[in-house]
Parts: sequence; structure tokens; C-alpha cells
Amino acid sequence: MRIRTFDEYQTAYQKSVDDPEEFWAEIAQNFQWRKPWTKTLQWNFTEPSVKWFIGGKLNITENCLDRHLAERGDQPAIIWEPNDPNEAGVTLTYRMLFDQVCRFANVLKRNGVVKGDRVCIYLPMVPELAIAVLACARIGAVHSVVFGGFSAQSIADRINDAQCKVVVTADGAYRGNKEIPLKSTVDDALIGCPSVQKVIVMTRTRTPVSMLKGRDVWWEQEVKQVTADCPAEEMDAEDMLFILYTSGSTGKPKGVVHTCGGYMVYAAYTFQNVFQYEPGQIHFCTADIGWITGHSYIVYGPLACGATSIIFEGVPTYPDYGRFWDIVDKYKVNILYTAPTAIRSLMGFGLEKVDNHDLSSLDVLGSVGEPINEEAWHWYDDHIGKNRCPIVDTWWQTETGGILISPIAGITKTKPTYATLPLPGVQPILVDENGKEIEGNGVSGNLCMKFPWPGILRTTYGDHERCRQTYFATYPGLYFTGDGCLRDEDGYYRITGRVDDVLNVSGHRIGTAEVENAINMHTGVVESAVVGYPHDIKGQGIYAYVITEGDAGGHDAELTKRDILATVSRVIGPIAKPDKIQFVSGLPKTRSGKIMRRILRKIAEGDTSNLGDTTTLLDPAVVDEIKAGAL
Ligand code: WTA
Repeated sequence: MRIRTFDEYQTAYQKSVDDPEEFWAEIAQNFQWRKPWTKTLQWNFTEPSVKWFIGGKLNITENCLDRHLAERGDQPAIIWEPNDPNEAGVTLTYRMLFDQVCRFANVLKRNGVVKGDRVCIYLPMVPELAIAVLACARIGAVHSVVFGGFSAQSIADRINDAQCKVVVTADGAYRGNKEIPLKSTVDDALIGCPSVQKVIVMTRTRTPVSMLKGRDVWWEQEVKQVTADCPAEEMDAEDMLFILYTSGSTGKPKGVVHTCGGYMVYAAYTFQNVFQYEPGQIHFCTADIGWITGHSYIVYGPLACGATSIIFEGVPTYPDYGRFWDIVDKYKVNILYTAPTAIRSLMGFGLEKVDNHDLSSLDVLGSVGEPINEEAWHWYDDHIGKNRCPIVDTWWQTETGGILISPIAGITKTKPTYATLPLPGVQPILVDENGKEIEGNGVSGNLCMKFPWPGILRTTYGDHERCRQTYFATYPGLYFTGDGCLRDEDGYYRITGRVDDVLNVSGHRIGTAEVENAINMHTGVVESAVVGYPHDIKGQGIYAYVITEGDAGGHDAELTKRDILATVSRVIGPIAKPDKIQFVSGLPKTRSGKIMRRILRKIAEGDTSNLGDTTTLLDPAVVDEIKAGAL
């Protein structure tokens, strides 16, 4: 399954296009199956319906844990670095992790969880997060991990959408110098979640928490009641493995569904090849397990390949901005996988904290989550990789399960800001507004995929029609990514950003509609429109235009702004707070009532020289007012 030269990449790519079934069948042989599949692929992008390894039976945890025990039972599987560098970390060998996963799987069973049940996991970045994820997979329960920064309302929405039976959480979380009360947030969420029968709470911060009799139990006490013997549930390749909620251009976040067989094969194959992982290497992915990057490249991909994966609880700037380099030095990290936003924020602090650490263990650097600008790419290359580590700019999405377009470390010639070439099995196509293919090189268009790969989403939970509408209806017969893309003269791909109403703020996906809905819930707000604008560190910032009733309830404008931020935090979470709020008396609308976001975007970008045609607007004067008051 390993590509070692550019020739081998090209051969593999060609084969994956000529005979995808044979190509993926051979790769899937490298895994442990209880029962082999009878047909490798069945698909259409109209319903859509995609099935890989049909009839195959497996359990992903046997691939991530059991099968490594004989050979590398004593090798670290997970190294945990706490938020506070003075607190002792934890190293779990494969045997220890196996033991703990089995125990917690038994705890879930003891609390009524059976195959197919949904379990919501709302935990800090502690080993227990990976343990809980794998324990669900062990017994065939479907995990839905919710990022620890989301609000009670967001948790409740996700729990209700998936009808989760159990929630796994902690008393609190440490993040930098902050302490975040997770359990009390869960308590608030559960007021509106009748499906939840049990809450399992682990101790992290020793924050006092309320424990409801009959519903809430302690993790530490529960694991004492069970054995470490938990046979893995036999799963169909197409049984659901997890749900992960992500933002789109309309409505509430949707639950992207991934299944056991295809996701496993794809996460492991891409981990191994993109990073050119070698046995014994230490892999440090700085993402949170609450996002897809953490699912695929902290937990499943690395563990399926028998790697050592670091889980870091804290933030890059605590206790100082040298923290990443500290961790690289301390654990002799070989592969570092982080986001452009982190690189940009650390760049700003200069080199002092970089230069006083030994980074010579690094072999490969990765970037993910948003386009990486040229300056950040070079800084990463010069100062972290010392011009000797290949940088893999990996483009992919929650929906794709794993990396789709990326250099293969040390093998694909890189070009700053380019995700370069599609991985084997990936067939990109650029189309124009009307869905017509844009052929040749030196062209730009909307990025679609014309053939399924094993990690593609199967549905959106509970609403297959929404999946069809969102991804497969814009351009019939194609999977539409929502991203714009350039293919240069060399056939290299460069992702230029979302072409829909999805923002990418510090690598987090946020729908403009979601933020608007939250703002509109604030008392006195009549209407709002949210757009993105270029932000030096976050990539994109959130700019909100807000119409309020009268004088916004008698408050002064600054206070009202802060109140609106508080509402957005409460409704979605702090990550969705607008960076700028401009009060306006009207919004530029067409006669049919559609907000002209193009104009608002230009004003937010500070580019008001050419706003294009505004004559079709209902009230063109409003544009001048907005321009005059722009922040
Ligand atoms: C963006 C994160 C440019 C893109 C794995 C995509 C990128 C969205 C890159 C998915 C990259 C991700 N270069 N843009 N290397 N990687 N994106 O679902 O707009 O959180 O559609 O998955 O992030 O975000 P998501």
C-alpha cells in the first residue's frame, strides 16, 4: 500500500482510474477482515448511493488495536501532553490503550449502549477522548464527537438530531489559562434532550459539578465495575462508524456519516502515504479530535498504521508561544501536522522561541484546514523545517473522510500554496457555473469529484435528501466540494477557498446563515447579514451588518455589540463571534428581496472602488451609507 517514488505514484494513480475496484481491493487486503467483501464498489451519484467492500465484516478497533498487540504491544500508541507543561503527561502503549478501550466499551454496555446507538462525546483533548471514540467503535455504537468549544445549544441540537442515548463528558477542561465548565454546559444542553439516558463524567479539573441521580455516573467509578475483556462487535463494512456535524451554507449543521470499512481503508492509506509514515515515528497532529482532522489523523489513521500519536490538550501560545516547538523537542516529533492559522499566529512572535528548541527530529510538515498563504508556507519551510522537510499542503473536508489532494511527502515536487496533485483514487474535475467541465491546464473553476473514493460521506444523518441537495444536486453526476480551485500549467491544484456561504475562520467551518440566525435571536435585532473578510491570522474574519430596532433598546452601540457577541457565544460558541459589527439602517437587496452579499463582501474587504452594478438594488442609497460607516 506504500508509494515510494513519483513513478510509483503515477502508476498507482493510473491504476486507480483504470480499475478502481481492483486498486482498492488490493489496498484493503492490508487490513484485518472478519469476512471478506463480495463486491468492492457499487455507486451512483444521483441518489446518491455509495457502498464499498460490500458484504465485508470487520471491526475498526481490531485493526487499530488488537492486530498490533503481538508485534508492538509495548510501543506507545498515544502520548498525551497536558495543557500545563508542569503536569505529568501520560503514555499509553498499544496494550494499555487496548485494555482501556475494552474497559470503557464495557462501561458503555453497562449503561445500556448497544450496537447502533448514538453516543455524544464532549470531552477535552485527553486520552479518554480517544478511548471513548474507540470504545464506541468496539461495540458498534456510533460516536458523535462535539468540539469542546461549542455551546449548550449547539450540543443540544446535535444530540437531538442524532437522538443520542448517552453523553460522555468531563467536569471541566483546561485551555491555556482558562478553565471551561464542560459538565455544566452539558447540563444546560440536556434540559432539552429527552433521548439521553445516561451521562458518563470523567474527572479532569475537579470543578464542582452537579450529578443527577439515576442519570449521571463517574467514569472512574464505572471502569472499576467492569473487566477488560470486550470482544469486538462484528460490523458490516457499510455500518455507520460515526457522525460528525459540520456547517454548510444553509440551516443547521448537518451530521456527516462515515462507515466502517471504506473510512478505515482511506484514513490509513492516506496517513501512510501522504506523510510517508515509517514505523516508530512520532506523529503530532495539533487538531482537536472534535474535528475531522483529529478523527482521521490523530485517532484512526495513525492507530490503524501502528503509529505513535500525540494528543495535546492545550493551545500553541500557552504558557508561551514556543509550546509546539517544546513538544516537538520533548518527544522528538517526526511528523508535524498543523493549520495555517497557527503558523501565522506564531510567525508574529518572531524566532526566539523557535531557535531555542531542537527541531531536528522533524521529517515531514503538514498543513490543513484552509489555504496556506505564501508567507506562512515559507516561514514554515525555512524556520520549522529548515528547508529539509517536505511540506504537505493537504486539501480535504469532513465529507471526504481523508485527504484528497496533497503532495506525497518527499515524492511530489511541492509548490508554495498548492495542494498539488490528487491522491490515487481521487478524480477531480473543474466545472463552470453551469456544470460544464473546464478542461486543460491554466484554468479555474468549481472543484468537483467525478468518482467515489472509499472515504466519501454516505449520507447526512436522518436526512438523505439534504445530502443529495447539498453535494450531488448542484452539478448532476458530480460530488461538489463547495471550493473554488485553480489548475495551473503543470496540472497542479490550488484551492482558492469556498465559493458558497461558508466561512473558514481559523480553519473552522462556519456557515454565514448560522451566525445570522444567532445574531437575529438577539433582542432588538431586526435583520443581519454576515460575510467573511481577509484576516491576517484567522484567514477569514467574520463581518456582521446588523439592523436594530430604534436605538437598540436604549443601549449605546458598544454595549449592544458586546451583548450580540454574548448571544452568538451562547447560541453557537465563541468561535462564531463576529470580529466586526456594523450597525446599518438597511441592507442592499434586490427587488426580489435577496441580499447582495457580493457588495457586502467588497465593503468588508475594504475594496469599495468597484462595487459592480448596483442599479438593480431596491434602495441604492443604502450602499453609500454602509460604505461610509464601514469598519
Ligand atoms: C478548506 C478540514 C485550502 C476548504 C479537513 C474545505 C482547505 C474546508 C485545505 C473543509 C487546504 C481544507 N487548502 N483549503 N489544504 N484544507 N480546506 O470540513 O475550504 O473542517 O472545503 O475539513 O476547509 O473544512 P473541514
